[in-house]
Parts: sequence; C-alpha cells; structure tokens
Amino acid sequence: LARGTAGGDLAGRHVVVSAGGTREPIDPVRFIGNRSSGLQGYALARTAAARGARVTLVSANVSLPDPAGTRVVPVGSAEEMRKAVLEAAADADAVVMAAAVADFRPADYRGSKIKKSEGTGPEPIALVKNADILAELGQRRRAGQVIVGFAAETDDVLANGRAKLARKGSDLLVVNEVGEHLTFGRPDNAAVILGADGSRTDVARGAKEALADTVWDLVAARLEPPAP
Ligand code: CTP
Ligand code: CA
Repeated sequence: LARGTAGGDLAGRHVVVSAGGTREPIDPVRFIGNRSSGLQGYALARTAAARGARVTLVSANVSLPDPAGTRVVPVGSAEEMRKAVLEAAADADAVVMAAAVADFRPADYRGSKIKKSEGTGPEPIALVKNADILAELGQRRRAGQVIVGFAAETDDVLANGRAKLARKGSDLLVVNEVGEHLTFGRPDNAAVILGADGSRTDVARGAKEALADTVWDLVAARLEPPAP
C-alpha cells in the first residue's frame, strides 16, 4: 500500500478515532474507570496519519504522547466523548470507536468528597446508563461514511460479536477477547474483524499497528471513490 501523507490511500479523507477509557466521576476525587490503555486507538490514529488521512483523535484518559500529524481532543467522561465524537463525525469519512466507553455513570455527582464518617455505612452508588455513541453514529451516518466498532468480549466471542454488529448498525466490528492479561496495556493484539456484509477477517496476534493497518485496509475498501 502507498504510504506517506502526500500519496497515501487515505489522502483527502477525514477520519475520527476514539481512544482510551472514559471516567465517570463519583465525587471530585473518585471515578468509575476501566483498563483501556489507549494503545490500540493511538496505533489507529498514527497509521491513518501515515496513510495520508486528516485525523481527529478523541482521547480519554491516556498517558501517551500525541501521535504526529493528528488533532487530539482530550475528553474525560462518556458524555464528553459523545459530544466530541459526534461533532468531529459531522464531516468524517470514517469513524472508529476504539475507546472503552463506560456503560453506566453515577446517577448523582457529589460536589464534595464523600466522607467515610458520614452516616452509618457506605452508601450504594446508583448508576444510570450512558448513551451508546457507536449506535448513535450508525443512526446518524452520512452517505458513504464508514463506521467501525470494537467489541471487548470475554465469552462466546464470535456469537456476541455478530449480534453486537447487527445491534449497533456499524460496517465493521473488531472483536477481541479481553481478560486481565490479554490486550489491555499490551503492545500486541489479536482479533476477528466482522463485516456487516458477512465478511470475516482474522488478524493473528501481532503489533497493534498491524491490526490498525488491517482495519484501515477494510475501511479504505468500503469508502466511496474520491470526487474527481
Ligand atoms: N460504545 C459506545 N458507547 C457506549 C458503549 C460502547 O460507543 N456507551 C462502543 C465502544 O466504543 C465499542 C463498541 O461500542 O466500539 C462496543 O463496546 P462494548 O462494550 O463491547 O459493547 P456494548 O454495546 O457496550 O455491550 P456490552 O458491554 O454489554 O457487551
Ligand atoms: Ca460496554
């Protein structure tokens, strides 16, 4: 494949990548978070830029240097990520949701630190559902826009992946098996990429860059030819 910002196969395209994991605040010092390191999303952003794309990277709570040639939009919570992704997606050719978005957030944000001395015992933290950004992208998609999701599964990886792809209305779903010692914070990854057209692409364990390049190959094949 052609590389480099001038002649890459994503030249003239705007792609949006979300990365990292959202944090849902409980009080000023605490949050509900997850194990996402952001490495896979950053690899996607870096490889897209290397293939010539204009890249918006919506990044939640990662400690990684900004990838060269990308516009980084830092966010904290799922709701902040939703706003940033939907705004950037308005003129995007492709959107890849690599971020681990919290499914739930505390129903009430406590403006002051919860003290252990308050009351008799720990209060339960009530949760409410966050909006599903990927499903919303599927509903709002522009003509020709390619939408890619990731699925973290611990059991029945493929069956859950197929069902999730259909439910979300995306074009591609990158399904990887997660567990405490798989994927998170590791430089390598393995996945099966399912297409809404019924396609299946197996990516053997390797660098997160290699998986990223395969994702962009599949995205590029689904983009409409550029206007002459
Ligand atoms: N996602 C999203 N908004 C959410 C939750 C998830 O955009 N509120 C996106 C993720 O970025 C990912 C995809 O949806 O690309 C699948 O995330 P996953 O957690 O595997 O699926 P869920 O639909 O949340 O289902 P569950 O966690 O119950 O398996
Ligand atoms: Ca989820």
